[in-house]
Amino acid sequence: MSLTHFSLLLSFFLSFSLPLLSATPYLSPTTLFPNYQNMLKSFKIFTYSPPRPLIFSTTPESLFFSSLLKSPFITKDPEQAHLFFVPFSSHTSTRSLGRVIAGLRNDFPFWNRTLGADHFYISCEGLGFNSNRNVLELKKNSVQISCFPTSRTEFVPHKDITLPPLADPHASNGPTNKTKRHLGFVRFGAVKESSLLSELRDDPEFLVEAGPSDELTFEEMLEHSKFCLFEYGEGDVSGISDAVRFGCVPVVITDRPIQDLPLLDVLRWQEIAVFVGWNKGKDGVKVNSLKRVLHRTCGDEKYEEVRRLCVTAGLHFVWNEEPQPYDAFHMVIYQLWLRRHTIRYARREVA
Ligand SMILES: *[C@@H]1O[C@H](CO)[C@@H](O)[C@H](O)[C@H]1NC(C)=O
Ligand SMILES: *[C@@H]1O[C@H](CO)[C@@H](O)[C@H](O)[C@H]1NC(C)=O
Repeated sequence: MSLTHFSLLLSFFLSFSLPLLSATPYLSPTTLFPNYQNMLKSFKIFTYSPPRPLIFSTTPESLFFSSLLKSPFITKDPEQAHLFFVPFSSHTSTRSLGRVIAGLRNDFPFWNRTLGADHFYISCEGLGFNSNRNVLELKKNSVQISCFPTSRTEFVPHKDITLPPLADPHASNGPTNKTKRHLGFVRFGAVKESSLLSELRDDPEFLVEAGPSDELTFEEMLEHSKFCLFEYGEGDVSGISDAVRFGCVPVVITDRPIQDLPLLDVLRWQEIAVFVGWNKGKDGVKVNSLKRVLHRTCGDEKYEEVRRLCVTAGLHFVWNEEPQPYDAFHMVIYQLWLRRHTIRYARREVA
């Protein structure tokens, strides 16, 4: 190849591949958007009649359920359905839940086809292992939608999904010019009482809340801090949606790999958050090493980019009364849509 060809090729690459190479918060941006459109056109869900009244313990669960019922995804024809929804209230006893599943098994042909693998349900805490055969089959085979975080024994990584915690929809979406006064912000309860927390309190670069704040104060602190610290497994991580939304890059301190992050099939979490590991056996994280990690992985040049990716990803964490394109409801539905292929059965099975 001649030099001219080469430089032409090079300039072609430079002009056309740079935008593609530029950072994205998405795992697969080239698949996500067309596949989402296919979902809107084709996805069908059959829901069994819910017991009345159906009561959920958290807002995301209720919003997911009410949005689902009024969505165009619902079909009355089970033969059209890709997935089946098993509705039951939070705090349903194991015994009643077992009876619900036994009822479906006996009254409809759908459960037996896959032993529940094309079924899904909502349970904020998640189902644990259980001696009730019906409940065990539901837990092991069906897709569970639980709240984040879900305890490890109550979450099966290859199939289960978590609901994004509730986020304030009022975050500004454009670039904010707010001066980031604090390096890190620790919301009350987000990091458990520890030597790390006392070191953070003593460090002028960090702002540690002494008590619960109201929403406005909280949002202001998010906007004025570069990083928001959370301790997975011990602290309250529910503020992570707001952190992402308001461009306070989450720093998640964890002693184990996290398998239940919300929107895990959609987002490239390592692009929008900093994960800091520590060994439980050792004496934990020190402020100085934490700062080193932050400067190394997300230093001055990179920070603004990561913050921008956070804010973009933040749109998908918003729950609406009336679902909007690409909001939390639709992204959970999208993750269900991705799971429709895990099911294999002969359509015309002879009874
Ligand atoms: C599903 O299978 C069980 C046995 O495992 C059987 O008792 C039940 O009648 C079957 N359900 C239907 C609708 O055929
Ligand atoms: C933010 O700063 C940029 C340049 O740094 C400026 O162009 C823009 O007008 C500012 N926006 C606001 C809302 O102040």
